[in-house]
Amino acid sequence: MEEPVRLQKFLARAGIASRRKAEEYIAQGRVKVDGRIVTAMGQQITPGKQKVFFDNKEVIAEEQIIYILLNKPKGYVTTLSDPQGRPIVTSLLQGIKERVFPVGRLDLDTEGALLLTNDGKLAQSILHPSNEVFKTYEAEVKGCPSANAIRSLEKGILLENKKTAPANLRIKHKKNKNSVIIITIHEGRKRQVKKMFEAVGHPVQSLKRLAYGRLGLNGLPVGKFKILHQSDIKKIFSNKTLYKQKNS
Ligand code: URA
Repeated sequence: MEEPVRLQKFLARAGIASRRKAEEYIAQGRVKVDGRIVTAMGQQITPGKQKVFFDNKEVIAEEQIIYILLNKPKGYVTTLSDPQGRPIVTSLLQGIKERVFPVGRLDLDTEGALLLTNDGKLAQSILHPSNEVFKTYEAEVKGCPSANAIRSLEKGILLENKKTAPANLRIKHKKNKNSVIIITIHEGRKRQVKKMFEAVGHPVQSLKRLAYGRLGLNGLPVGKFKILHQSDIKKIFSNKTLYKQKNS
């Protein structure tokens, strides 16, 4: 039999979430031990002797670590449950037994690359600002931003009293009265791309994430996913070259 371990550590080890997030889940009453909800922090459990449930599903400690890239469709939420009953991204992962969670978020109306994993450590390092993981988006924006607007977005603009980090922008083409722009940023503030374009007077009409680092969708159809390998994970952290779409 295994040694007793703190509940939040057990959940993190099983890949449910980081320890801190697991504490939130415990406080929210989503965790049961042997059929009883536990909200007190610091409870010890003995794996193999006691059964732990998260959202009423048993947590199996030896879950395999898995990495998935999904091409998220519009209209799906990137949370694991939705009080409003909207479709959740994990419902698209048919055949995946592991309990994965999205790495970061995409808005309801944003589509594109979304990583999901049960590896809490990797998720944290992708999200940690110090690692500066590039995220590349294709944004269709209203009108045509001037060279000045593009330059100021590249240098950084004030958003909620904090300057954005340097970004890379390229106008891909015009589309009627709109422009399609490829933008690469390494921050992950909420609705950041939309807020940046809004700030220079060119609101986003549609948004798609193309890549994390150099890990792109590579023709993965909307709504489909693929399992990633270690070589793919390396591409996420490759900040040396910007992601370039084939044929663009
Ligand atoms: N920036 C946004 O504004 N929305 C997203 O979904 C992702 C990045």
